[in-house]
Amino acid sequence: MSAVHECTCGHRGENPYLPMSMVIQRIVDETDDRTIKSFDLAFACEEDAERFCFSPGQFCELSVFGKGEAPFGIASSPTEKGFLRFTIKKAGVVTSALHSLVPGDVIGLRGPLGNCFPLERMKGKDVVVIGGGFAFTTLRSLIVYLLEGGERDQYGKITVVYGARNPGLLMYKEDLAAWEERDDIEVWQTIDREAPGWTRKVGFVPAVVEEVAPSAENAIAVICGPPIMIRFTLPVMTKLGFQKEQIYTSLENRMKCGIGKCGRCNVGPKYVCVDGPVFSMAELEELPPEY
Ligand SMILES: Cc1cc2nc3c(=O)[nH]c(=O)nc-3n(C[C@H](O)[C@H](O)[C@H](O)COP(=O)(O)OP(=O)(O)OC[C@H]3O[C@@H](n4cnc5c(N)ncnc54)[C@H](O)[C@@H]3O)c2cc1C
Ligand code: FES
Repeated sequence: MSAVHECTCGHRGENPYLPMSMVIQRIVDETDDRTIKSFDLAFACEEDAERFCFSPGQFCELSVFGKGEAPFGIASSPTEKGFLRFTIKKAGVVTSALHSLVPGDVIGLRGPLGNCFPLERMKGKDVVVIGGGFAFTTLRSLIVYLLEGGERDQYGKITVVYGARNPGLLMYKEDLAAWEERDDIEVWQTIDREAPGWTRKVGFVPAVVEEVAPSAENAIAVICGPPIMIRFTLPVMTKLGFQKEQIYTSLENRMKCGIGKCGRCNVGPKYVCVDGPVFSMAELEELPPEY
């Protein structure tokens, strides 16, 4: 192992604040405007790689030396071996620093953190996945896991509705194309307005969900996206017969420690970083609207 990728795990012990060293293997522009990139990371230390175990919906704190640390959902699935993928929108200090890195650079990672999507509850049920914009990251992890986890027969019908403002802003285009080829998943891609060459749905995500009308019977839905998309999708879900207990979302509150110590992410009595980020709508209804 080269000096740049020096293993640090021997010094970490059980200190949850000490990051693991991760080597950037690959960086891909996800969107035409180049504001969203996927980073495939490999563990610098073999022992870290062996110990790291996560479920779809969990997140990590990524750090860039001299810039800081920020939370990001894991976009790869536990079934995808040899790398961890994060898809990151350039927003401020840490994300801009991440966007300036190149393959071979080393960053820090703490995690996996938080809870995950309700995989056990999904068994024996249809799964409806609704996403908008760049919040599709952990939904990608979930979909790949459901399809490739070796237990596809444990889940019923999988329906995906995914929307972006225009075709260039849809992420994971190769995955979407591959899923469309399969007959064990139904994928509906939509964009806000007509665009040259676009042959799929046109319209906002809530309208497409209403049109596609996934059955609420024996189903679990996961909705991630901009707050306005979620706000307008929820009444549609109610109209389709979904109860609040059947609908999950993932919160993206501001965070610092990620391990329930600093109080930065509180919503009422809940720490989003440890009690979440995944909550059912029934759970959120019990909380003050601070998310
Ligand atoms: C559980 C979780 C999962 C996340 N997953 C992803 C992901 O997969 N991909 C991704 O691109 N981003 C994700 N985010 C958001 C990401 O953490 C923020 O974009 C990041 O912290 C911004 O850091 P920065 O230093 O670049 O921005 P800063 O310099 O800190 O801030 C830049 C601007 O963004 C605003 N901002 C920063 N963080 C947030 C936030 N959490 N909510 C609202 N406004 C904010 C600031 O107020 C400021 O206006 C996730 C957040 C959480 C809590
Ligand atoms: S981020 Fe510190 S308690 Fe949640």
